[in-house]
Amino acid sequence: MAKILVLYHSFYGHIETMAQAVAKGAREVAMQVDVKRVPETMPDEAFRAAGGKANQAAPVAQPAELANYDGIIFGTPTRFGNMTGQMRTFLDQTGSLWMQGALVGKVGSVFTSSATQHGGQESTILTFIPTLLHQGMVVVGLPYSEQRQMGLDEIKGGSPYGASTIAGGQGERQPSEQELGMAAFQGKHVATIATKLFG
Ligand SMILES: Cc1cc2nc3c(=O)[nH]c(=O)nc-3n(C[C@H](O)[C@H](O)[C@H](O)COP(=O)(O)O)c2cc1C
Repeated sequence: MAKILVLYHSFYGHIETMAQAVAKGAREVAMQVDVKRVPETMPDEAFRAAGGKANQAAPVAQPAELANYDGIIFGTPTRFGNMTGQMRTFLDQTGSLWMQGALVGKVGSVFTSSATQHGGQESTILTFIPTLLHQGMVVVGLPYSEQRQMGLDEIKGGSPYGASTIAGGQGERQPSEQELGMAAFQGKHVATIATKLFG
């Protein structure tokens, strides 16, 4: 059975909540599921001024740790339609893993959040994927067998590229039951594929 890492950056807590749902789904299948976050790189003053959420529960990951897992599910809020600088800075420290081919053949997957419904969820995941491919990872999304992404019953995140949530302009909206369900599905789906590859 596979070892899965859910690795996230969250500034206001939405992705942190989604990460726990992803991990819950992965735990249905995987032998080991760890939830870790990337270091916060924003200067303290700017972090406080922007109302960042401190004291997040997950331990901070080291780049070298990625090699210990069979599947890695990355969570990042959108920043202008891309991953956050904090996640980018972490990934930019994985050059030696790339040189060793340490992540080649491992499963990679991405989930995200944005303030607005069309604020760049798909572009954030799609612009994340080249990094996974450069690392030689097998990219997995959120297949349409997770049918909650099809429904028009409520405004919600979720696409074939990955689970997502809509936080609202002031961060006032929390991930809905359906969004958390899609996140759990993605976690289980990645863990299932990683188990087939490595279990
Ligand atoms: C500098 C900056 C840029 C952002 N860019 C976007 C954007 O392009 N589209 C959008 O919908 N939300 C944007 N947001 C809102 C964040 O994506 C939102 O706060 C985040 O998804 C909430 O997740 P978190 O609670 O895990 O931090 C931006 C926020 C900041 C601070």
